[in-house]
Amino acid sequence: MSDLTDIHAAQQEKFDTRDFNLGAVRLDHYEKLRFGPWCPYWSTYSFVATRVEPGKRLLVVGSGYGRDAVIYANLGFDVDGIDISLKCVETSRELAHRFDLTKRARFHQQPAEQLEFADATFDGVVGVNVIHHVDTQSCINEVHRVLKPGGWAIFKEPRLTPLRDKFRNSPPVTWILPKGVKSLATGSMHFEDAPGEKNLDGTDFRIMRETFGNLKVTRFHVIAKLSSFFGRRPTLERWDHQMFKVLPFMRWFGDQMTLEVHKQA
Ligand SMILES: C[S@@+](CC[C@H](N)C(=O)[O-])C[C@H]1O[C@@H](n2cnc3c(N)ncnc32)[C@H](O)[C@@H]1O
Repeated sequence: MSDLTDIHAAQQEKFDTRDFNLGAVRLDHYEKLRFGPWCPYWSTYSFVATRVEPGKRLLVVGSGYGRDAVIYANLGFDVDGIDISLKCVETSRELAHRFDLTKRARFHQQPAEQLEFADATFDGVVGVNVIHHVDTQSCINEVHRVLKPGGWAIFKEPRLTPLRDKFRNSPPVTWILPKGVKSLATGSMHFEDAPGEKNLDGTDFRIMRETFGNLKVTRFHVIAKLSSFFGRRPTLERWDHQMFKVLPFMRWFGDQMTLEVHKQA
């Protein structure tokens, strides 16, 4: 692997110390009732799943502990997953082994900004919550390079929402809900961002649009943002979904999104 930057080292440290319950992973994860077009994770999955053809090559960028990569391999894709964290890579290999998918799901420790694959290798690229950890320009250049002409990429990422982020990061909210402690309502952790992490903004959109010549952004989570305090995210996501049908402009306030790009054929 190429030399790591300080940001890579910080990301490695953060994700090398996470524990994963591989026993809880199900290949039909996205079939659960809570999922549907109201959910940005499901929307990303659905975009990829509807493009499956046996032997098509898929790159999963920032593949984490490998759940989505093995799900896509099980659908029929020939999958490579890359991640900066060795623990994630080793855990993913174990997961692929459990499901007897090692031939179709391979995992590599590589930075997303310097992929060790030849030009025009992949039919598709998918990344979930990863662009906000990496150098966007270098990563998007690499994604464009390794895609075949006519290939596609889709990412699910958080979006910067200046007003709401300022509210979230100022007293008295930080007194009630400081980062790094559990939410009293949901029990979920609010972590300090590691170095290099950022929610995406117009600069990231411009990079994608200029590199690919196109970009489709779909936003989610307006009412669902309240799930940080009250839980019940699937219900709130459905409320958003209904609201967007009547008031489509409300999507503009969403802080989660899918980003879709296509390489010219
Ligand atoms: C929030 S996790 C998401 C993991 C996975 N996509 C998922 O949805 O479960 C971000 C992942 O990106 C990886 N990562 C961070 N910086 C990276 C980089 N520069 N290159 C490759 N992977 C990176 C981390 O190790 C981590 O596994």
